[in-house]
Parts: sequence; C-alpha cells; structure tokens
Amino acid sequence: MSTFDDYVGTFDNESGYLNWAAFGPLSPSVREEIFADADLLGSGRPSSLSLVWERVGQAQELVAELLGGDAVDVTLQPSSTQGLMHAFYGMTGAVIASTAEFPSISLTLDRAAAASDRALTPRWITPADSRVTADAVAEVLDDEVTALAVSHVDFRTGYRADLAALRDVIGPDRLLIVDAVQSFGVVDADFTMADVVVGHGYKWLRAGRGSAFAWFSPRARQRIVPVLSGITGTDSLSVDEVMAPTASAQAFTVSSPDTLAAGRLAIGVRDVRDAGVAAIEARIAQHVDTVLEIADRHGIVVTSPRDRAERAGIVVLSPEEPARLAAALSNAGIVVTARGSSVRIGVHAGTDAATLQQLDDALGAFGNETFTSS
Ligand SMILES: Cc1ncc(COP(=O)(O)O)c(C=O)c1O
Repeated sequence: MSTFDDYVGTFDNESGYLNWAAFGPLSPSVREEIFADADLLGSGRPSSLSLVWERVGQAQELVAELLGGDAVDVTLQPSSTQGLMHAFYGMTGAVIASTAEFPSISLTLDRAAAASDRALTPRWITPADSRVTADAVAEVLDDEVTALAVSHVDFRTGYRADLAALRDVIGPDRLLIVDAVQSFGVVDADFTMADVVVGHGYKWLRAGRGSAFAWFSPRARQRIVPVLSGITGTDSLSVDEVMAPTASAQAFTVSSPDTLAAGRLAIGVRDVRDAGVAAIEARIAQHVDTVLEIADRHGIVVTSPRDRAERAGIVVLSPEEPARLAAALSNAGIVVTARGSSVRIGVHAGTDAATLQQLDDALGAFGNETFTSS
C-alpha cells in the first residue's frame, strides 16, 4: 500500500464529518504521540524534557520544508492570529486587505493601525464575491501601499486566491502576507512568493489547537519591526540588561512555545508531507467534484468556485432555506458549518464514500423544492 493510501486509512473519525474548514478531528498519530510526549514530560527527567523540546526544531524544519523556506525563519505561535499580530504591529504604510477577510486579518489590521497612531493604515477593498483578485488589488495600488494581506483560501467563499498573480500586481517590493489556514498542507502552492505565511494545525493538519506558525521571509524581517517581541525574541536572555530583538525571525516570538503543541504540529505536518501534498490536493479536488455533482443533482445552488484552480476543500451551498437545510443535515448526522444564508462543507482526502452517500441521501430525502432557490 502506498503512503498516500496509508494516510487516507488514518481518517478514523465518525462518518458524516464534513466540517474540516472549522476543525480537523485529531489524527491517530497525533493522538498517540501526544500521550508519549506527555509521559516524558511527566517524568521530570532532564533528558526526557529535552527529548520533548526537540519537537520545536522538528516542527520548524517540517513547516519550512513545506513552505520552501528556512527553519530558522519559522516561528511557532499559539494561533495564526498571533502570527499576524507580529506582522501587522510592526508595519507602516497602507496595507491592502478585503473587508470580507476572516477577522484574523481585518480586525488585527484595524487594531494594529490604531496602536500605530495611523503610521499604519488599512486600505480596505470590497471586491465582487469577496474575491481578492489582481484586478481588485490593482485598483487601489499607489505609492503608499506597503503590503497586501490575503487569505490563500477564503474561509467563507472557498475562493483560492492566485498568489502568483497577486505577487505580480504588487511587484517585488511590497510585502505579501498570506493567511494559509485553509490551505497549508492540502494545497500544493509555492509559498516562497509570499513574505509572511501564517497557518495552524487544528483544521487540515488534524493536530489540535495551539499549534500555529508564522514564517517571515528575509525581506519581511528587514521591513517589519519586531514590536511584540518577548523573552524568546533576543539572542540571549539577560536579567541585568534589556536585550535588543534578535535579527532572526525568532524576534517575532513572545515566550517559549508549548512543546506538546509543537509536537502535534510536527506530526501533523510530517503526515501530510509523507502522504504528499499534491496527492492530498488531488483527492480533495475529486471529493469536491462529487459534492458539486450531488448538489447539482438535487438542485442546490452552489456559490463557491467550480474551477479547480480557484478552490480547495470548501464547497458553499446557498439554498433558499439555509436553516432548514442545516437542520436536515444535522438530523442526518452530517457535520457542517451553517452561517447565515449558506452551509459550508469541507471535505478532506480521507472523506469516505459513506459520508458522501449520507450527504446525497440527506439532500434527496427532503425533496428539492424545500431547498432550491429555483
Ligand atoms: C482563514 C482563517 N484565518 C484565521 C483563522 C483563525 O486562526 P487561529 O485560531 O489560529 O487564530 C481561521 C479560523 O477559522 C480562518 O479560517
């Protein structure tokens, strides 16, 4: 059996789970190894503690490998929002961002601007369908713009931004700050065209909360001041003098990382690396095709992108009666995210045929007329 098939075989969560864009049930390897790490921490032996501490370096190495960067430029963070804070609070100039971004970008940018006394200003855009395209960015570009912040895959619409086109339009000198929460590990992208990439382990990596990271390119390190820099952000720790931030990306850290979280992140990333991100992406694309086919057959309006290049693992259903559809799915044992007028489905490589059949049956059982918008 290939490593990819082994990986798919590790999805042992209950059938009906279609909520990967919200939370990824922990993988068996993460569950097993976290117990082993916890036992080591329970011994108190220095050799055991340092064994668990090695997880920090492993996580940095593995994240860097997937990003195509250097391990020393990867910082471990308690959340991806905290990674974005390190970036925004140290920036000046106008930063382009969509008002429809997940608040980790929009709210954090707003707060950082307020704290900067307007040395930093958000340059809000409200593009059609919330799609941050090169054209939408080009419209507001001027000399004041120092950066663009964007979700690689939008949490609400499922739209996958074209990072190459965005880099092209902002040029080589502005920073490209990417929230890869909905893509890291499941979309085979070239992240080296970005300057800051944040992500976390609790959705697609199946590694639980607290396992986030932020990567800072050499250019980002030159341009972003380490404002929220703490006791791990210096070359050494001194009690008698106040140390300057280190020149490395570790300046964008506050205190020592949670080694159990680092272990979970390392295992989650290792598993997707071993299975192959391209293979995972391809399998997810097949499952999305199946969900689209099911929705079309039952007359449910889909508002997420259909083009493979513009989507990842999210399908958005926008029926006439979203609350009824959400209730029907829930009654059928299907876990999704229902929000306002839409129902968000997230499929992963290990989504099984039984789950897709459950979705098909649930949509069929209640009759099209209740859900279709015509
Ligand atoms: C696109 C996106 N960014 C950021 C976050 C929040 O990440 P964290 O909890 O690591 O701060 C989410 C959570 O759903 C998300 O979907």
